[in-house]
Amino acid sequence: MASTAPIGVFDSGLGGISVARQIHRDMPHEHILYFGDSANAPYGTKTPQEVRTLSSAIVERFMARGVKAVVIACNTATSAAVNQLRDQYSIPIIGMEPALKVACDRGHGNPQRIIVAATPLTLREKKFSALMSRFESSHVIFREPCPDLVEIVEHGQLDDRDLIMETLHRYFDHYDLATIDSIVLGCTHFVFFRSYFERLAPSSTAIIDGNEGTAHHLEVVLESWGKLAPAHATGRVDLSNSDTSERMTRLARSLLTA
Ligand code: DGL
Repeated sequence: MASTAPIGVFDSGLGGISVARQIHRDMPHEHILYFGDSANAPYGTKTPQEVRTLSSAIVERFMARGVKAVVIACNTATSAAVNQLRDQYSIPIIGMEPALKVACDRGHGNPQRIIVAATPLTLREKKFSALMSRFESSHVIFREPCPDLVEIVEHGQLDDRDLIMETLHRYFDHYDLATIDSIVLGCTHFVFFRSYFERLAPSSTAIIDGNEGTAHHLEVVLESWGKLAPAHATGRVDLSNSDTSERMTRLARSLLTA
C-alpha cells in the first residue's frame, strides 16, 4: 500500500473530529477520511456487541477505500472492538483510551486524585478496568459517566452555555474539585467542552485529553512502517457521516475548523 494512501478515522459521531483536527495539525501531509456514525450515536449506551458490529462495518468501508491505517477516534469503540478489528485486518489499527497515565505521571510520584469522565460503556468495559488496575493502588481515581455531553455535541448545542454548565454541575457538583488534580476527558466528544471544564474547575485542576498522544502514536506507527505521507503531499480531511442531512454536514464542518 502506498504511503500516499489515506488514513481512516472514525467515531460514533462528531467527537472524533477533534482527533482528526489534531492529526491534520500535526501531520499536515496526510489525507484523512473521517467517518462519523451520527445516525447510530451514541455508542456509549449500547452493548459491546452492537458497537463491534457497527465498528466492523465502518472499517470495511475504509478498507474498500484503500486506507493505510485506521484510527478509532472513540474510546467507546476502542474498548469494545479494537481487539476484534486488529485480528481481522493487517493494517495498523490505532485505538484510544482515557489518558489516565498522563494524569498519574503529572504527580511525579505523588498520589493524584483524578476524575475520568467517559461514556458508561467505556467505564464498564474490561479494557478500562485493566487500565485502572495499573494505577489505582497509588492514586485515587473516580469514574464519572457523562452520556448527556455526547448528546449536546450531536445536537449542535455547543454554544448553549447555560445548558452545558447546568449539565456539568449535575455531573461534577458532588466532587470537591479543589481537591482534584486532573479531570481526564475519556471521550472524544468531551474535548469540545474543554473551555467549559476550565470554567467549572479551579485552575489547579488539569484538564487532560488523549488527542495529541493519539496523533503522536499514529505518526510513530506510520513512520516505523515507512508509510508516512511524503513531504510534498498536501493533506486534507474529507468528512462523511451516516447522517447525511445538511444540518449534520454543516455541524461537522464547523467542528473541524473550531
Ligand atoms: N466519542 C466517543 C468516545 O470517545 C463516544 C460517544 C458515544 O457515546 O457515542 O467514547
